[in-house]
Amino acid sequence: MPQLAYVDGRIVPLRDARVSVEDRGLQFADSLYEVVAVLNGRLLDWDGHLARLRRGLAELAIDFPMTDAALGIAARHLVAANGQRQALLYLQLGRGAAKRDHVFPKATRASLVMTVRRFDFAARAPQQRSGIKVITQPDLRWGRVDIKTTGLLPNVLAKQAARAAGAFEAWLVTDDGTVREGGSTNAWIVKDGIVITHPMSPHILPGIARATLIRLARDAQIRVEERPFSLAEALAADEALLTSTTAPLLPVVAIDGTPVGTGTPGPMAARLAGLVADEIARQTGWRG
Ligand SMILES: Cc1ncc(COP(=O)(O)O)c(C=O)c1O
Repeated sequence: MPQLAYVDGRIVPLRDARVSVEDRGLQFADSLYEVVAVLNGRLLDWDGHLARLRRGLAELAIDFPMTDAALGIAARHLVAANGQRQALLYLQLGRGAAKRDHVFPKATRASLVMTVRRFDFAARAPQQRSGIKVITQPDLRWGRVDIKTTGLLPNVLAKQAARAAGAFEAWLVTDDGTVREGGSTNAWIVKDGIVITHPMSPHILPGIARATLIRLARDAQIRVEERPFSLAEALAADEALLTSTTAPLLPVVAIDGTPVGTGTPGPMAARLAGLVADEIARQTGWRG
């Protein structure tokens, strides 16, 4: 079956999918994106992704005429047409194509492209058992990274540095030593049974997996603190974790080569991973 993409209302083979060279997403990163997990052919946390997208559209004053219902139907239709049961749905929604000029064009239609790629969620199981390593990088991003724009160059460079160092992720750290988040994941530590993650702010992405984990942990009577933590605190933590759509929960066992806690996945990570796995199964029926 050929891979299919959605481009402004049409489903076309991925290899033929095109946008204009004057697309403002291409020229200015004047566009938003979402990555949604598809498990058992079902969309995980679709409502959360949709709400974050709507908020981003409002923040950027992008007028996107499609209703939530129509967008949901188009997304599910593309997933079904691609025939992938375990996949990532990518949506990119921008202000559209116009003659290059920084200010908003007057009469431009917002653009929407979507793709679906097979994704092996089961490959996370061994990483969950062994834990993964992170390095730290300076947070070079702009001041509104709570808006999920496609302007990801600092994230790209940080994650490339992680790859070059043999690490899974780069944690982005401010000049004063605050750990914001990972290049494409939210960052967590565990100390004395308390689970700690950076609060919602303009300086982190409000991750969907982050919100889910906070809710599940609190429902299970686990104490969660949403507060900034420093790199020094992370290095002295009992455990560390990361979360995202593509890595729902992975234990972090080393930061810049220094072991966290025992240097192996800890009991809180295992407990939280169990809660997340149950939630994924509840929503989609999928168990890795
Ligand atoms: C910078 C950043 N932080 C956190 C996340 C995790 O967000 P989510 O849980 O919605 O996948 C992402 C995901 O792409 C990200 O790019």
